[in-house]
Amino acid sequence: MEKHKALYQLFSNLWILFFESRNAHWNITGPNFKPLHEFFAEIYTKADSDADLVAERLRQLGKFIPSNFAIISKNTTIPESTKILSSSKSCLDRLISIHQLINKQIVEIIQECDKDEATKNMLADMVEKMEVNLWKLQSSL
Ligand SMILES: [Fe+2]
Repeated sequence: MEKHKALYQLFSNLWILFFESRNAHWNITGPNFKPLHEFFAEIYTKADSDADLVAERLRQLGKFIPSNFAIISKNTTIPESTKILSSSKSCLDRLISIHQLINKQIVEIIQECDKDEATKNMLADMVEKMEVNLWKLQSSL
């Protein structure tokens, strides 16, 4: 896959992570409400800034960024979920699977970024922090 297409797919997946962590932040119920509500806010804040970094990197590579629901839905590789998740376990499971998918995707893009050090460094930093959040999510189960 061409690099800019792979980056646009990542951008779309980061937006889905943004929406899904927003959903979890709003709908979570149970005894761990407060810490998880706050943790999910950290996740969507990071997803927002990561999507911004990828979009701005695409601009530096000369591409424009279409950002609307139809295009994002078409380009995301995250399976759609229409259920409202509210238990800790269901919210955590969903966010864990999204993190695993995005982390794998980032590693694959890094491997194809041979001479593009700037993109590679940006993605390496991104996946490192995603791994930290993945560990926190898994440890919250
Ligand atoms: Fe809030």
